[in-house]
Amino acid sequence: MDVQKNIKEIESQVDEAVKDVESSKSLYDIKMKFLGKSGAISSLMKNMKDVPPEERPTLGKLLNSLREWTEQKFSALEQKLREKELKKKIAAERVDVTMPAKAFPSGSHHPNTLIKDELVSIFSGMGFEVFEGPEIENDYYNFTALNTPADHPARDTQDTFYLSDSLLLRTQTSAGQIRVMENKKPPIKILSPGKVYRSDDDATHSPMFSQMEGLVVDKGITLCDLKGMLDEFARKIFGEDVKTRLRPSYFPFTEPSVEVDVSCFECGGKGCRLCKGTGWIEVLGAGMVNRRVLEGCGIDPDVYTGFAFGMGIERIAMLKYGINNMKLLFEGDVRFLRQFK
Ligand code: PHE
Repeated sequence: MDVQKNIKEIESQVDEAVKDVESSKSLYDIKMKFLGKSGAISSLMKNMKDVPPEERPTLGKLLNSLREWTEQKFSALEQKLREKELKKKIAAERVDVTMPAKAFPSGSHHPNTLIKDELVSIFSGMGFEVFEGPEIENDYYNFTALNTPADHPARDTQDTFYLSDSLLLRTQTSAGQIRVMENKKPPIKILSPGKVYRSDDDATHSPMFSQMEGLVVDKGITLCDLKGMLDEFARKIFGEDVKTRLRPSYFPFTEPSVEVDVSCFECGGKGCRLCKGTGWIEVLGAGMVNRRVLEGCGIDPDVYTGFAFGMGIERIAMLKYGINNMKLLFEGDVRFLRQFK
């Protein structure tokens, strides 16, 4: 009988086809060849209409069981293949948690940033707040309000970049003192870091550099308070044994004014190349806030007194890290910068 022969034939074809199948994808293709719409088994079923009616029940049963047998065979195999594939996938995607992690090169802080952060941390420990003023300043804040009117000789010492008659690039963070005192009643205790600009350029000067300003105004502030605070600063930045010394100086906005030296932390004061044989190194300018400056900001100098100080951050960095040329701080050469981890 034809159909029965066909059934046997298809059975062995199915067995043959699945023998070497390796992936669920090729299994699917094979499955379609037999069970798909125009697959071998489906075609046989379609042909049932040509079979004499009396044979249909028997043949129908045979065909149905062929289809079931085939379906079962495929689904059992499919499950096996999927399990195998999943195992393979898991093995391939396995992460070895004991493997050393990839190291990404990390940058480092610029020496200026290191010093600035250190200074901010030292002074905020003493109760200072940070105020940052603008780099483009009025002539008024940078000079006039700091007791340096238009014809004052001290203007010549600061080689100013003017942007217009009244606007300039600030030459000193002292400009921030005025902005603070105009807006805040004493007690005032601020720290003002930032970039300043002067037309000056050699191994120890750069047209752009950074300063850190400090200002304290309150009742009963004296030069002793300034000296005590500077001692603390010098010990923290340069080392426990370092001492400070005040020398008379002149700034229009402070009276009296002082230059502050620290004892040489390299030779301990005996005299060496760093301190040029003197045992002392100049680190900053300071003084008691001039009465006229307080008055100009609406603060009564008979009630309040204050001190101010200003230092160059690059200068501190160069001293502390033994950097001999300021240009190194602005060139961005990673071979230099990498040394400050
Ligand atoms: N502004 C001064 C300078 O740039 C430094 C200074 C600040 C001096 C505060 C006294 C008080 O040289």
